[in-house]
Amino acid sequence: MVLVGILRNYPRYLPPDFTADFLVGRRGSFDGAYAWAFYAHLISGPLALLLGLLLIDSDFRRRFALWHRALGRVQGANVLLLLVPSGLWMAGYADGGIVARLGFALLAVATGLCVACGWRAAVARQIDNHRRWMQRCFVLLCSAVFLRLISAVATLTGASPDWLYPLLAWTTWVVPLLVNEVVMAARPDRPRPSS
Ligand code: HEM
Repeated sequence: MVLVGILRNYPRYLPPDFTADFLVGRRGSFDGAYAWAFYAHLISGPLALLLGLLLIDSDFRRRFALWHRALGRVQGANVLLLLVPSGLWMAGYADGGIVARLGFALLAVATGLCVACGWRAAVARQIDNHRRWMQRCFVLLCSAVFLRLISAVATLTGASPDWLYPLLAWTTWVVPLLVNEVVMAARPDRPRPSS
């Protein structure tokens, strides 16, 4: 639902319509590098979310192990080469001042680290470790959904103070990440038969 809402804005981004919500006031910063980052982000963001949904599904993993591996590589490359660099670049121009910019920049770094660690664990066949890192990565990707969901509710209820966006730039990923750590700690890995 939220993803559909995000994608519905796309026709106003190509060519850029500077009266569209997100692009208002961005004509000045929408030069070469920002535009490249923006369009790379528009492709890599939804792709990362959709692939994340598929890859995290244990049924899909069990039934289509080869697809899981192939799509996992696509996801790794997409996140590390497109989503993280574009998110990092755009973070430098984000609304909400230095607090929001730092929040988004750290989100990008954390997402890149989770994917890199998860990839390394997969190559080393440390499956439980791999699953934990990729679960963290997915939680971080979902922050884009939480951010838009809470922003939409705030707009609808008319409760949208200036400090909300910087606050959400942090809380929409730090809080889910902490909750996920608690859930993972409460459900320790089942021992696997040694091969
Ligand atoms: C590594 C994780 C991510 C980071 C660091 C990140 C960072 C950012 C930043 C900094 C902006 C600009 C915000 C502003 O200027 O106020 C942005 C916009 C955007 N992001 Fe992300 N993002 C991430 C993940 C995602 C995901 C998973 C999606 C998938 C839907 C997504 C979709 C978008 C879209 C469509 C925009 C353009 C504005 C809009 O239409 O809402 N991002 N992102």
